[in-house]
Amino acid sequence: MPTVLVLNGPNLGRLGSREPDVYGSADLDALRESLAADLPDGWALDLRQTDDEGTLISWLHEAVDTGSPVILNPAAFTHYSYGLRDAAALVTKPGGTLIEVHISNPHARETFRHTSVISGVASGVIAGFGFDSYRLALLHIVSGS
Ligand code: DQA
Repeated sequence: MPTVLVLNGPNLGRLGSREPDVYGSADLDALRESLAADLPDGWALDLRQTDDEGTLISWLHEAVDTGSPVILNPAAFTHYSYGLRDAAALVTKPGGTLIEVHISNPHARETFRHTSVISGVASGVIAGFGFDSYRLALLHIVSGS
């Protein structure tokens, strides 16, 4: 069964209590439930979170090996992790799908958030729509477009 990997970077495990004015008051379990409700038959979803850069990179390697499409919220790694960018490129250069998502709109926030080192190797970017950023990414993947 094809599995969509939904990978979340540092501090996203604190969703629910972390800056609710920016990120809302729902946590990752609520995100998992919401995405599962949108999942068509024949698809599986694997949502993970880590604060560790190496772990996130190893999950992208796993996506390369399994050919799984990826929805990635790199969180703060977005703005400076060349290691994560290179791992994302391993997914997309051979034709795999990796959609970068953000809950907030980083471009409307502090200047350091305006740079993404991931976007240049992502299949696409969706930002600023809360958890709907993930839902829109999932819709794109399962629609096969
Ligand atoms: C974020 C935006 C990043 O700038 C920030 O570091 C995050 C979350 C978002 O989803 O809006 O941790 O990726």
